[in-house]
Amino acid sequence: MKYFVTKDNQSISQFALGCMTLPLDNREELSDIIRLSFEEGINYFDTADLYQYGKNEAVIGSFLYDYGQFFDYIIGTKVGNEFDSALREKIRWNPNGEYIKQAVNQSKLRLSRDVIDLLMLHGGTIHDNMDDTISAFESLKNDGHIKSYGISTTRKNVIDYYKENSNLSVLMTPLNIIDNRGEEYLDDNYTFLARGPLMQGLLTEEYDDALKTKFKHGYMGYSVEELREIIIMIREYGYPLEEIAYKYLIDKNVVIVQGVSSVAQLKKNLRHYYNAESIPDEVVDEIRSKIKTKRYKNNRQMENIKKVQPDNKRKAFRIGKKNSR
Ligand SMILES: NC(=O)c1ccc[n+]([C@@H]2O[C@H](COP(=O)([O-])OP(=O)(O)OC[C@H]3O[C@@H](n4cnc5c(N)ncnc54)[C@H](OP(=O)(O)O)[C@@H]3O)[C@@H](O)[C@H]2O)c1
Repeated sequence: MKYFVTKDNQSISQFALGCMTLPLDNREELSDIIRLSFEEGINYFDTADLYQYGKNEAVIGSFLYDYGQFFDYIIGTKVGNEFDSALREKIRWNPNGEYIKQAVNQSKLRLSRDVIDLLMLHGGTIHDNMDDTISAFESLKNDGHIKSYGISTTRKNVIDYYKENSNLSVLMTPLNIIDNRGEEYLDDNYTFLARGPLMQGLLTEEYDDALKTKFKHGYMGYSVEELREIIIMIREYGYPLEEIAYKYLIDKNVVIVQGVSSVAQLKKNLRHYYNAESIPDEVVDEIRSKIKTKRYKNNRQMENIKKVQPDNKRKAFRIGKKNSR
């Protein structure tokens, strides 16, 4: 297993486990998935406070706590969606600093952790008071509640703002050879966490099922038939779809945040991940050249942003950032 070292000196496995679709109610299967992950050297587990309204953090947190006696691991969680866990519903988007600090305390309790390794903003818009959010992240870090922070978003203007005005350690965004819109966000300034690596199962041998269920209305301007044609084109190269999908991401030096719903999927995916290394670069480059380059059309401009005069704290942060380069 390959590892990347983040700006905050955390070592993250290239193949990571996305916890959103894990079978939380099947404890045996879940335990097998987590044990296999550790045995294979996976050390990054990705969750969010919103997933199953707190239940994902609580269940995954308790399994990881038990395994944590034997293995080191990094848990990443996300914040910014206020929710009611009893009613199991989202209340509103809330990136305010004070709310984030409260929410982090709740996440720490659910995850059974004194410190959260990685905290990401779970979305974000250019109309948020981004300086307030960044200040909260910085003070959570300075006070030892979190080790590092980042954002999970697809919005170019938000990413640009955080790149310029914060010490973000990671960016999480969708990336795979078909949904290549995130390519323009690849950047040496942060560690890139690629979500949706197998495009919900479309880039697997189960592609026909995925086309009929998850993509029956098409996606990203492609009709279902156009998506099928792309899959057929990729398969003509004679490699498993999963291996082409992983090789594309391996070549980009990104963390592959893979979601699974069974241990069988994880086993298969890991085998494909290891085999992918041996596919010649030219094969994936040629396949990629036959697929359209897509880019996000909305949320690109900074024009509506409110200019906020930095207070002393923000000034100090900017100076610190400059000096640390
Ligand atoms: N906004 C955000 O921050 C955000 C949003 C989405 C995801 N994420 C994170 O990113 C992680 C990964 O994203 P994702 O779940 O969208 O990844 P993905 O790779 O696109 O999809 C995972 C799903 O693909 C299917 N799959 C996986 N391996 C398979 C195989 N070998 N054969 C057939 N089907 C297979 C499974 O679907 P079935 O469940 O149908 O079996 C699995 O749940 C999530 O777990 C979460 O941690 C973050």
